[in-house]
Amino acid sequence: MVRNKLAVALAALIAAATSGLAGAQDAAVPTQIVDTMNKIYGVHPGFRANHAKGVVAEGSFKAAPGAAALSRAALFDGSTIPVTVRFSDSGGLPDVPDGSKNANPHGMSIKFHLPGGGETNMVINSLKFFPVANGEDFRDLLMAIADSPADAPKPTKLDQFVASHPSVPKALGTVSTPDSFADEVYYGIDAFIFVNKAGDRQAVRYIMQPVKVVHLPPAVAEKKAPDFLVDDLPKRLAKKPLVFHLKAQLAAPGDNTKDPSQPWPDNRKVVDLGTLTIDKAVPDSLAAQKKLLFLPGELTDGIELSDDPLVGTRDGAYAVSFSRRQ
Ligand code: HEM
Repeated sequence: MVRNKLAVALAALIAAATSGLAGAQDAAVPTQIVDTMNKIYGVHPGFRANHAKGVVAEGSFKAAPGAAALSRAALFDGSTIPVTVRFSDSGGLPDVPDGSKNANPHGMSIKFHLPGGGETNMVINSLKFFPVANGEDFRDLLMAIADSPADAPKPTKLDQFVASHPSVPKALGTVSTPDSFADEVYYGIDAFIFVNKAGDRQAVRYIMQPVKVVHLPPAVAEKKAPDFLVDDLPKRLAKKPLVFHLKAQLAAPGDNTKDPSQPWPDNRKVVDLGTLTIDKAVPDSLAAQKKLLFLPGELTDGIELSDDPLVGTRDGAYAVSFSRRQ
């Protein structure tokens, strides 16, 4: 509980610092976003405003030999780092069917428990890039969704927003339902800066690569049992550990780091950062996930924020959602 209070205070500070950089009126954006999520999905006490349905597991991370040359973070020093992982469905409905298209993109959140007691987080999902460039546009997209019920006159507010933001359908076109949380690629989307021991700086975007990717056709996904993904995880873990490879896509000089709706070209170098092994289901996952707060901006020395503005807005919104669900 003390740790949760500290995390909220930290997130509030990060949000305040970011809003200070971006302009005073931005301070309200994370709250406006959570309010609009609550309007779209309703309020479900004790659950997250987004990615409300999920399942928690544990395991460890071990860096690849080359990772330390890119970042001096303790995460990449080669020791075995314990992790807490939460897989999730999108949206604020705690009972969304896992195979529904509304449960896409699926999420993966990782807390790396670093030597010496600190931690760093990664909060990533199965979209290859984000539908919009910044928090203000995301707020406006959510408001357009809230203002476009099934009986709204055409063109709806959402139709109009999508027509003026072609990255929305492009981004949503990159997701589908996997047959298991284990068989999906998760993307970091936001750019971060790696700093190595010599002080060299390299912009990166994370890719969490599974051993294999298995996507279901929409008609098959929709007929699956409502909890098939959440139920599958402990069953798989009882048989054998899940393995993912954490990779970094490296920006070339001049690549845009501040717009998460613009992917870098596919031919950019991708390097192996290490292996994530998930080997233990958490017995009372529902109770465990209520206490957990993952913050995309909770970093450690050797991993820094870039000029991507989304992370500050996300930290603020996650803290608002966390404080409401306690
Ligand atoms: C401005 C952009 C975004 C906003 C405002 C936003 C907002 C939120 C909120 C309010 C939550 C609930 C947090 C909680 O109660 O702990 C959440 C959860 C989550 N979001 Fe985002 N999000 C944004 C972008 C993204 C992006 C770009 C990704 C992936 C790269 C992502 C992945 C996730 C995941 C995986 C969770 C579940 C976290 C958990 O397991 O606790 N979100 N988001």
